[in-house]
Amino acid sequence: MTSTSYVDFYKEHNICPVLNNVDPKFQKKRAALYFQLGIFPSFLKDKSVLEFGPGNGINSLYTNSLGPKNFVLVDANPTSLENCKKHFEEAFPNQKNYHFVESLVAEYKTNERFDLVICEGLIPHQYDPQVCAKQVATFTQVGGLFVLTCHDFLSFLSETLRSFISFIGVDKSLNFDQKVDQIADQLKDHFNILKSMNRNQRDWVIDNTMQVEHWTTTPLFSVHDAIETFKDEFIPFGCSPNFINDWRWYKDITVDGELTFNEHAQEKYWKNAHNFIDFRFEFPERDANSNKELYQMSVKLKALISNYIDDSSENNGQAIIEILKKIHSSVDEFSKETAQCIACYIENLDRVFNNQSTHFTHFQNWWGRGMQFLSLLRVN
Ligand SMILES: C[S@@+](CC[C@H](N)C(=O)[O-])C[C@H]1O[C@@H](n2cnc3c(N)ncnc32)[C@H](O)[C@@H]1O
Repeated sequence: MTSTSYVDFYKEHNICPVLNNVDPKFQKKRAALYFQLGIFPSFLKDKSVLEFGPGNGINSLYTNSLGPKNFVLVDANPTSLENCKKHFEEAFPNQKNYHFVESLVAEYKTNERFDLVICEGLIPHQYDPQVCAKQVATFTQVGGLFVLTCHDFLSFLSETLRSFISFIGVDKSLNFDQKVDQIADQLKDHFNILKSMNRNQRDWVIDNTMQVEHWTTTPLFSVHDAIETFKDEFIPFGCSPNFINDWRWYKDITVDGELTFNEHAQEKYWKNAHNFIDFRFEFPERDANSNKELYQMSVKLKALISNYIDDSSENNGQAIIEILKKIHSSVDEFSKETAQCIACYIENLDRVFNNQSTHFTHFQNWWGRGMQFLSLLRVN
């Protein structure tokens, strides 16, 4: 079996470092997400659902509460499935509508096609996210929905930078758990900014920082990539955050008898890509080409960071600072506050490289709109 992002790491440590506590108030949050994705409560009644990578199954509890007749949950990590089973048995005693399958996405086989296919927090950090996404999507029946999460280089920028300084700054003599403790402690003030964060902070560090390939080599998968990949078979149906507004007269939506939802969503994505950088603000749309340039700079930054992890030479450190200065100038055109966070990071990164003490006072306030959820309706 080939090496697999997430699964190898989770199995090595016998963990599933995502949400693992049942809180009734969380169900309302999931309901809010599903409303944004166009999944109204009665949609799932007596329908069939397939979920890849349910993790500990906390999110899936809400899905099952909507009464599907058949719910298949597929995950390749035994710890995820154990926790998932436990939560389902407690929440739905004696119910027989669900079952669990231990399998990699790539190895899962069935001839069944489902009304809803969900894949949350899995695709963008695979080594080949497009192949994985295509495999998952095949199980959606025509007229059904495919829900996936996307991560792009702008929404993930602050987290890439955060994990980079945490990882290179941690005391290398510590063991795995001690490193996690040290980083979690250093990021306390960063996490405090995220008032609605549900996940345990140590788990965030394990999943995001200690899985080095997340912020170094994995290619990510943006909303744009998703729409491009599936444009012949799917159309966007809903998204969270909800940025694909459409002011067109409905009679103008078809051109030569063809639906143009995909083209419209692509245009909206590029005009709004800068809105994924900083969750604190909502900026007016801006020129798509400026956002494409900014995006390419962020792609380059992630590659340079990856390079630095392999070879921490002064030149490689300087290359990161140079690209960050360019990102700073582009961001400064629409957000002085975000630019100030980047300036703070640049100043402190230089101090990290020179083993001096750091104060990430502005930077700690900056988080992106990390994951975007997209629901795609299968039309062909
Ligand atoms: C980051 S967790 C997300 C869990 C949950 N969906 C959530 O959003 O909280 C990823 C889950 O997907 C599983 N997973 C990741 N890659 C997989 C693959 N290629 N095949 C099967 N399961 C995979 C992991 O074992 C884990 O349970």
